[in-house]
Amino acid sequence: MSQPLFITFEGPEGAGKTTIIKRVEEAFKSRGIPFICTREPGGIEIAEQIRSVILNPENTKMDGRTEALLYAAARRQHLVERVLPALQEGKVVLCDRFIDSSLAYQGYARELGIDEVYTINRFATEDHMPDLTIYFDLSPEVGLGRIDDNAKREKNRLDLEKLDFHEKVQEGYQIVNDRFSERIVKVNAEQSIEDVYEDVISIINQKLAKIK
Ligand code: TMP
Repeated sequence: MSQPLFITFEGPEGAGKTTIIKRVEEAFKSRGIPFICTREPGGIEIAEQIRSVILNPENTKMDGRTEALLYAAARRQHLVERVLPALQEGKVVLCDRFIDSSLAYQGYARELGIDEVYTINRFATEDHMPDLTIYFDLSPEVGLGRIDDNAKREKNRLDLEKLDFHEKVQEGYQIVNDRFSERIVKVNAEQSIEDVYEDVISIINQKLAKIK
């Protein structure tokens, strides 16, 4: 059986995570590495339903703690239904966003407190943490500019927040990155897609080589 590995991808809006994850998927397929690719909030039916409530632009009344609890609830269901079974089968799990998004967005940017949000997430995850997290580092101006340029991408309730919210998300991520520096590796996401991909795949290859 191959080795399980839980890899998460984090970063602000418009960081290019989705494009790069697709490239990693293609590389894994051609190398015959057993893996699943998933995302948060969502990835399975119940969590996708929760996602549509959280991100519905019409839900302007949603309280910050409600938002944090819904993300944690979606995370719990996705973890037990999809992530843990795949790891038990010895697969690599590629997951677009996980706990660090909650710490940066709800904990810091929504000002609920990183420690408070970490506490509810420890309950939700029973302390299952990623083995490796790749952080896509880019300024909020560049990220939001890319979203505006990408007319096909539907804008969700959090995309519609003002620039200062996204600047706070960035600050929140810096705190989270420092706190979990043994797990989180930063990539310069303002480079070309090709260069970002090269950095990402070499970080993943190093990790895979270590666990073999
Ligand atoms: P996505 O656009 O990357 O699919 O993510 C959906 C939005 O949800 C994005 O604005 C980030 C936000 N988010 C949080 O605020 N907290 C979380 O815990 C997660 C997973 C996502």
